[in-house]
Amino acid sequence: MTVAMITDREFMQFQRFIFDAAGITMADGKQALVSGRLAKRLAHYQLGSYGDYLKLLESRDQPAELQVAVDLLTTNETYFFREPKHFALLRDLAQDAADKHRTLRVWSAASSSGEEPYSIAMVLADVLGDASWEVLGTDISTRVLQRARSGHYPMERASQMPQHYLKRFCLKGQGSEAGTMLIERALRQRVQFQHLNLNAPLPKIGTFDVIFLRNVMIYFSLETKRQVVTRLLAQLRQGGYFLIGHSETLNDINDTLTAVAPSIYRKP
Ligand SMILES: C[S@@+](CC[C@H](N)C(=O)[O-])C[C@H]1O[C@@H](n2cnc3c(N)ncnc32)[C@H](O)[C@@H]1O
Repeated sequence: MTVAMITDREFMQFQRFIFDAAGITMADGKQALVSGRLAKRLAHYQLGSYGDYLKLLESRDQPAELQVAVDLLTTNETYFFREPKHFALLRDLAQDAADKHRTLRVWSAASSSGEEPYSIAMVLADVLGDASWEVLGTDISTRVLQRARSGHYPMERASQMPQHYLKRFCLKGQGSEAGTMLIERALRQRVQFQHLNLNAPLPKIGTFDVIFLRNVMIYFSLETKRQVVTRLLAQLRQGGYFLIGHSETLNDINDTLTAVAPSIYRKP
């Protein structure tokens, strides 16, 4: 089968599609990325052009295909204990909650396939044990959420995980599962996953003591970043912590928070 080329016009239509669906601003020049990721969907429906695939999405004849396209156009790279400074802070906050017998609620707001919320849960389980704590992981991609709920990962994703956590919370795959690991059931059951678009009004999810919004704002325009951060801050309790990726900043985005350290903010 010949592989269709994506035209500039089709590419612009996909830029509009993913912006409307997720608030993601896809840079000019990413034609190869879009055509590479969507080529298998054209093959699946035996379509001759990316324009035909757009027509299929717009026609709503295959409503589930909209989510498939969103899944394919998001970038989901992540790993356990990414940016360890945040997990050291979390440990201190968990200790404080333990001392004060307070519940700790943490939201991983772009959780991807679950490595971030499970890393959070490991720290909380370690410090707080069976005491009251909650972790919510949300993402716009249903494909990564499915992987997150399964808790099954290639071993290399855990290269930054402290060894004692690996031993305590993960089961090493044997035989045909060699090279993989499974988050043990008790920890898996303590993490809730939910489909959620950060670029739309939020469902009722309550307020949190800590919000992780890491490595997702890079895909948003300045205006979308402002709207998303404002929306999320309404769910952060006073005195709560807001954590972003190390390559990100809230300069020009929000000035209501107190900067504690690079990528760590607190709601006054
Ligand atoms: C690069 S991953 C970051 C994962 C994790 N937070 C980390 O730092 O390792 C970005 C995630 O943001 C999600 N995402 C992108 N736009 C979103 C939106 N509008 N609402 C919710 N999630 C979104 C993507 O599906 C992807 O899984």
